[in-house]
Amino acid sequence: MSNAGERTHSHAAAGMPDEDESPSAIADALLSQLEALGGSRYGGEAVSQLDHALQCATLARSAGAEDALIAAALLHDIGHLVNPKDEGAAAAGIDAAHETIGATYLSRWFGPAVTAPVAQHVAAKRYLCQAEPGYFQTLSEESVRSLALQGGPFTAEEAEAFLAGPHAKAALALRRWDEAAKDPAMETPPLRDFEAVIERTLRTAP
Ligand SMILES: [Fe+2]
Repeated sequence: MSNAGERTHSHAAAGMPDEDESPSAIADALLSQLEALGGSRYGGEAVSQLDHALQCATLARSAGAEDALIAAALLHDIGHLVNPKDEGAAAAGIDAAHETIGATYLSRWFGPAVTAPVAQHVAAKRYLCQAEPGYFQTLSEESVRSLALQGGPFTAEEAEAFLAGPHAKAALALRRWDEAAKDPAMETPPLRDFEAVIERTLRTAP
């Protein structure tokens, strides 16, 4: 896993700014990357990755989430985009661990307030399937398929351990927006509306 993470990092990070470059340069590069790679379909969902990211961030902002969680919502699926081995993985029955790859990738620029909800948004799904009656029925077909590859619902013990973690609440909030952010009819602001949020949430932000 760590080898795959490193390879992904070096591949996807080619041409990306270092962590000590200006916040505006980093935010611009991240949004440009999302634009360049996110136009594709989101697995078997009805919206593109870019639409999904924008909808998720818009829902977070409308809910009054703090900046770090809005940034996490926007970037939570970046692990699908920066890993060349991600495409077709689920269809081939492989869990490409996009949440871990994404959090590792983002950790170059962001601290745990952004990376932890990204890393845990799959665990949050596994938690909700165990803890909340009716949640499973809200999952899209693709999400049900990936759930099986991701280990299925948590056991009661696993759910308890997850909930005790410091970022569980943020990860659960992100998960609910994630589920709702697959709506072909939803209106969103332009991506660049979120540039300032990204700048403010960088580890090096003043
Ligand atoms: Fe997502």
